[in-house]
Amino acid sequence: MADTHPDNFQRSMPDGAVPADVVARTERRWFGLMVGVLIVMMAVVVLTGMANAIHPPSNVETIDPTTLHLGGEFAESNLGTAQERDGSLTVRLVAGQYGFAPDCTKVAVDTPVKFRLTSTDVIHGFLLPSTNVNTMVVPGFVAEVRTRFARPGIYRMPCNEFCGAGHHGMWARVNVVPKEQFKPVALTERSTCVQQ
Ligand code: CUA
Repeated sequence: MADTHPDNFQRSMPDGAVPADVVARTERRWFGLMVGVLIVMMAVVVLTGMANAIHPPSNVETIDPTTLHLGGEFAESNLGTAQERDGSLTVRLVAGQYGFAPDCTKVAVDTPVKFRLTSTDVIHGFLLPSTNVNTMVVPGFVAEVRTRFARPGIYRMPCNEFCGAGHHGMWARVNVVPKEQFKPVALTERSTCVQQ
């Protein structure tokens, strides 16, 4: 009765075991499949990194999250968009449960933009859809990402790391405007959407 079982794999063997050559063949096939999957995944990482400049954030810069408000780079008066001497823009943001400060920034299209962020409390995420901007914002560290917006528009930026009960409501915006609509700011001035 056992030998007439329609499913070959469940057919009992004379000694009750699967023959060694069948085991070896099955293991070789699974090993090959696993190596193949690893090669495909590595290729995806390398190719998207090269083609879309999507790279793991690698800026290692520490900062004391308990004294951000007392002064220095992330003091409230220094947040928002700053214009550098070379015409590029630096946007500084502080992430905290449950919002970004400022929650709307304005930058010019087709201009190098550097985002510098840090967190006051827990790990947050910073993602700009359809761009190469995607980083974790870890308290104690400064996250830095560089991009250049090809098209004007409002880019909604969700926090994409679960950070607590209000995580789903943690959104902000980057308003990318044509160059002629971007009012240049003095080197010491900072701008947000609210002011312009
Ligand atoms: Cu902040 Cu999720």
